[in-house]
Amino acid sequence: MTTIILLLLSFTLFAPFSSSTFSKGSSLVSEKPTYVLTSPDNVFSAGFYSVGENAFCFAIWFSNSSTIVWVVNRDQPVNGKRSKLSLLKNGNLILTDAGKFTVWATNTFSLSLVVQLSLYNTGNLVLQNTESVILWQSFDFPTNTLLPQQLLSRNTKLVSSRSQTNHSSGFYELFFDNNNVLSLLFNGPEVSSIYWPEPWLVSWEARRSTYNNSRIAVLNSLGNFSSSDDFTFLSNDYGAVLHRRLTLDYDGNIRLYSWEKERQTWVVSWQANQKPCRINGVCGANSLCKYVVGSGRKCSCLPGYKMKDSVDWSYGCEPKFDLSHRNKNESVFLLLSNVEFYGYDVGYYSNYSFDDCTNSCLQLHNCNAVQYAFETGDCFCKSLLLNGYHSPDSGKNTYLRLPKSFESNKNLVKEFSLDCSRDGTIQLDRTYVKNREKGIVKFLLWFACGVGGLELTCIFVVWCLLIKTRKSSDADNQGYGLAATRFRKFTYAELKKATNGFTEEIGIGAWGVVYRGVLSDSRVAAIKRLNEANQGEDEFLAEVSIIGRLNHMNLIDMWGYCAEGKHRLLVYEYMMHGSLAENLSSNALDWKQRFEIALGTAKGLAYLHEECLEWVLHCDIKPQNILLDSNYEPKVADFGLSKLQNRGVLNNPNFSRMRGTRGYMALEWVFNLPITSKVDVYSYGIVVLEMVTGKNTIMGVHTTNVGVETKNKRLATWVKGKKNGEIATTSWIDDIMDPKMEGIYDKGRMEILVEMALQCLEEDKDERPTMKQVFEKLSSP
Ligand SMILES: *[C@@H]1O[C@H](CO)[C@@H](O)[C@H](O)[C@H]1NC(C)=O
Ligand SMILES: *[C@@H]1O[C@H](CO)[C@@H](O)[C@H](O)[C@H]1NC(C)=O
Ligand SMILES: *[C@@H]1O[C@H](CO)[C@@H](O)[C@H](O)[C@H]1NC(C)=O
Ligand SMILES: *[C@@H]1O[C@H](CO)[C@@H](O)[C@H](O)[C@H]1NC(C)=O
Ligand SMILES: *[C@@H]1O[C@H](CO)[C@@H](O)[C@H](O)[C@H]1NC(C)=O
Ligand SMILES: *[C@@H]1O[C@H](CO)[C@@H](O)[C@H](O)[C@H]1NC(C)=O
Repeated sequence: MTTIILLLLSFTLFAPFSSSTFSKGSSLVSEKPTYVLTSPDNVFSAGFYSVGENAFCFAIWFSNSSTIVWVVNRDQPVNGKRSKLSLLKNGNLILTDAGKFTVWATNTFSLSLVVQLSLYNTGNLVLQNTESVILWQSFDFPTNTLLPQQLLSRNTKLVSSRSQTNHSSGFYELFFDNNNVLSLLFNGPEVSSIYWPEPWLVSWEARRSTYNNSRIAVLNSLGNFSSSDDFTFLSNDYGAVLHRRLTLDYDGNIRLYSWEKERQTWVVSWQANQKPCRINGVCGANSLCKYVVGSGRKCSCLPGYKMKDSVDWSYGCEPKFDLSHRNKNESVFLLLSNVEFYGYDVGYYSNYSFDDCTNSCLQLHNCNAVQYAFETGDCFCKSLLLNGYHSPDSGKNTYLRLPKSFESNKNLVKEFSLDCSRDGTIQLDRTYVKNREKGIVKFLLWFACGVGGLELTCIFVVWCLLIKTRKSSDADNQGYGLAATRFRKFTYAELKKATNGFTEEIGIGAWGVVYRGVLSDSRVAAIKRLNEANQGEDEFLAEVSIIGRLNHMNLIDMWGYCAEGKHRLLVYEYMMHGSLAENLSSNALDWKQRFEIALGTAKGLAYLHEECLEWVLHCDIKPQNILLDSNYEPKVADFGLSKLQNRGVLNNPNFSRMRGTRGYMALEWVFNLPITSKVDVYSYGIVVLEMVTGKNTIMGVHTTNVGVETKNKRLATWVKGKKNGEIATTSWIDDIMDPKMEGIYDKGRMEILVEMALQCLEEDKDERPTMKQVFEKLSSP
């Protein structure tokens, strides 16, 4: 017996360890982080995971992406030396720190001869005995992630990580509350509040049931999540996907991620909260949250306040002035337009004048601001200024109470820009690999320079290694999907080589010529060479990185960019089947594909419009900009480019502000009305009609605005005419369908599609549905 244990022990210590089980008496040690348990299918690994300088957690992660799904000792990392996870002879599994004290134990006990710790293909780490009785399993103790089939129950909760790089417990929790409702809680340093489902809704309004006491929630592997409080959702890529995980992210949002094998990255297939700034506690007290596409949410202190903790926004801001000396006649009110704070009202009055409102605030010693609406006279006095957010369309104004001395400070309002970039995260060296490579660089530097003095060789070697290091750190980050895609900067020379000197032209668009290219890692790319740039590199980069980080299955993926001298290039994924325009004219699509393309396009646009919040208008939806991948799944291309190139143009009054392509443009452009996301809805409507009828709107080039308008109208009017026509001999839908489909289609679905398209073409933008509504309508069975 002892010899067997010794054998096992020596095996774990001296041979590269990779097995899915280990037995009594064996251990994993922190000095050898490459010795891991792996699930039989190699998808999951369990072992010591480096979380900082000489700090390790025992964790389970996805082998390919290093994405952690479970951690034993998240709040108490162990030393890199002499720490181990051991399965004792009495059946207890323990984690010891630096050979000294026990950090964690399962407190299991078994007399049976064989007790095994196994990592299952599901990602569950299970301790069981010969009788296959489960003594302990990691699925019963989730950290921030639920894997398919893992139950969330009344005894368990998910707790977010502190930040993207710090895996210790954060402030957000997902759990069943006392009313049996699955809820998200912000459990912050000073206050706590539930923010999902929306606290101002009663449970039935939020479509949650409080009656089922079983308190069970589970995600299945197809992407169906269901909870005993009647909350359910289907992922937007419902079906067989290689891996999924439901994670309560450090920013307080729950997201369902799917693993995309081709790109080796996680993509979001569902999220609970579309408005990141509405998540409580994001920026702490006395601060404002603003969502910026690409860089995420930004926190900033209110005027007159400063950050409490210089790196961590959770602690919010504190006043720079002394509150105790702020008496009645020494206060002023500073307007913060389109800013709202949620909760903490100490007084509510209606039909008040503005002066009444501010006066009532002055009467209250703990009133720090009022929210006032001139239309209704609604007046809210606020004590704590929490959950503040800036949203251009809220129309709510807040007046901040400040000491009079601040009035003289004329710069105050100007100073008050939302640009704080820190997110409370400190980058840690996550991997030992990286450090080792730095070591190699250093060593080679000494060696080459010291011995030979061959400077050129030295520089070359170091350069190569630096490139290599950078590449490997890119790879390290791959697992973080949204936050860090493989977006990168290319050199002009690299792209020139990839495109064979810009020879294989695959398209010409409004913004420049597109070439096919093969990157050095043999990925095929579409490389867009933008027209003459009149934009600085920084400015260009700022915009491009925003576009580059939008990540959705129905948006074309941007892999990188190049900005050198006058050259501005964008590198995109290559779409096998080209554009919708080409496919429509070549008649390659059946009705199902057309319907799916309409649906996918709507999904991509809905994401642009709503899930990203910041109204990334496309402004140029047309069949040429909808590309099809190898499965004819549509991906919207060229979004954000109008922003990229027209920046200079917009500021120049000599240019028309019109954008987009004739034939697809909404009336707002023509009549100089405010441009909203509804311009994209309009263009989408035209595209759908074209797709269904096979007719093209643009029959010639029109130079007048009136011409633009009549041309789009013609197709819509024709379809409407057929739909409302008197001759009822044949169905109207048969009359308008593309004859190339030869009558093979689902009438019902096509009718829904056309009716939806006509709604999108309403002249009054408010009558048009949002892209999200379009998507929902089309996807409902
Ligand atoms: C992670 O966050 C916790 C809690 O704020 C903090 O105590 C700890 O030092 C952080 N760890 C690192 C490595 O920054
Ligand atoms: C999702 O799961 C729930 C509960 O198990 C079930 O009622 C529902 O029909 C499922 N939906 C789909 C589309 O499979
Ligand atoms: C409560 O929810 C569980 C799990 O979703 C379900 O199996 C059970 O039937 C529900 N009970 C009632 C009374 O609806
Ligand atoms: C993991 O990576 C390897 C090599 O990079 C690849 O062959 C394999 O398909 C990947 N597995 C998954 C599940 O993506
Ligand atoms: C206004 O403030 C001054 C001192 O700052 C104080 O002497 C005076 O009594 C105050 N007046 C009222 C009406 O509170
Ligand atoms: C609001 O107040 C004004 C005068 O102060 C009064 O004439 C009006 O009727 C009030 N409106 C409501 C809805 O109470």
